[in-house]
Amino acid sequence: MNNNELAKGIYWVGAVDWNIRDFHGYSTLAGTTYNAFLIIDEKITLIDTVKKPFCQELMHRISDIIDPEKIDYLVTNHIELDHSGSLKEVMAAVKPEKLICSPMGKNALLDHFHEKAWPYEVVKSGDEISIGKRTLFFLETRMLHWPDSMFTFVKEDGILFSSDAFGQHLATSQRFDDEVPLPTIMDQATKYYANILYLFSPLIQKLLASVAALDLDIKMVAPDHGIIWRKHFDKILKAYDQWSHFKSEEKALVIYETMWQSTEKMAQAVAKGIEKEGVPVDLANLKVCHRSDVITKVLDSRAVILGSPTLNNGLLPHMAGFLAYMKGLKPQKKLAAAFGSFGWSGESVKLLNAELEQMKLEIIEEGIRIKYVPDHDKLEECYEMGRRIGRAVKEKSKT
Ligand code: FEO
Repeated sequence: MNNNELAKGIYWVGAVDWNIRDFHGYSTLAGTTYNAFLIIDEKITLIDTVKKPFCQELMHRISDIIDPEKIDYLVTNHIELDHSGSLKEVMAAVKPEKLICSPMGKNALLDHFHEKAWPYEVVKSGDEISIGKRTLFFLETRMLHWPDSMFTFVKEDGILFSSDAFGQHLATSQRFDDEVPLPTIMDQATKYYANILYLFSPLIQKLLASVAALDLDIKMVAPDHGIIWRKHFDKILKAYDQWSHFKSEEKALVIYETMWQSTEKMAQAVAKGIEKEGVPVDLANLKVCHRSDVITKVLDSRAVILGSPTLNNGLLPHMAGFLAYMKGLKPQKKLAAAFGSFGWSGESVKLLNAELEQMKLEIIEEGIRIKYVPDHDKLEECYEMGRRIGRAVKEKSKT
């Protein structure tokens, strides 16, 4: 079997992006793939395309299997340009009989490409299209990750083409989850969820329930990024269930930015207090940790403690930027607190608390402000605050 063959006659024909390091603000240090799939049947079908600069790679992979002009149907599960950036070129080369998309997908395609004459075939949840020996079943998955998104399920082979869901930004020459160490895949899948899907968690809960109710015989799940799940789908499914229910672990995360190390000393004292209570704690200095790695740690932390000094009556800029990012991703069900040093006006703790309130996180206490440089007694106050946070984390674990 070709190592890009998912099942007899179904091929991965996507592209590997080894070089991408920033995906709209998300650090993709392991690169990514843009997955597209070719099904050889009476109606030859291409599922998704790739980002525009990778169009030739896609066409070469298709040409290794068949003449691209023989493709009859093109399914666009998702219009975001990492999956449809090369659509215009592919449509020109292939001239398919049908361009299959969701209702929202058609609107998004028109808004992106302004091609009224393309042969749109709009499908809704539950619709099926026969391509010969196989049947494609469609499921709209609005807002996962855009309004147009949908899944395509090949009933006879049990393969779910899941678009962004269950994906990971991971460039590899291997295609399947039994060919790459599972922790490597799960680390990237966790980061992907935290940075792309976190805010859609309530919708994901509903989607998982509706897919379960369909009782599909799923043997393989092929997302549009990263590796294909054929052995460990149960692991990622369980993780999605936990993440989408905002389940966390008994641990805390102290996120801070510092100017002259006073807030850093406070962060370390708070962390020491949390640790003293037997609760694992991570420290994330926003000057050296990328926002997308920090939000990944937020995902399973039960408490998030924020620290910033006051600068120009506000927060330091990395903290302000991080909070804009975190707020958009809508974490829920976390304990929270704030601290920070100041020179004269000292608004930072109030501002941090206001952000935590807006996020509807459970603020444990008012927070600690320290003028200029903390002395031993002030650091002791921070340590005691850490101990109270540690106890609150353990208490919440019981509920
Ligand atoms: Fe991989 Fe929402 O695009």
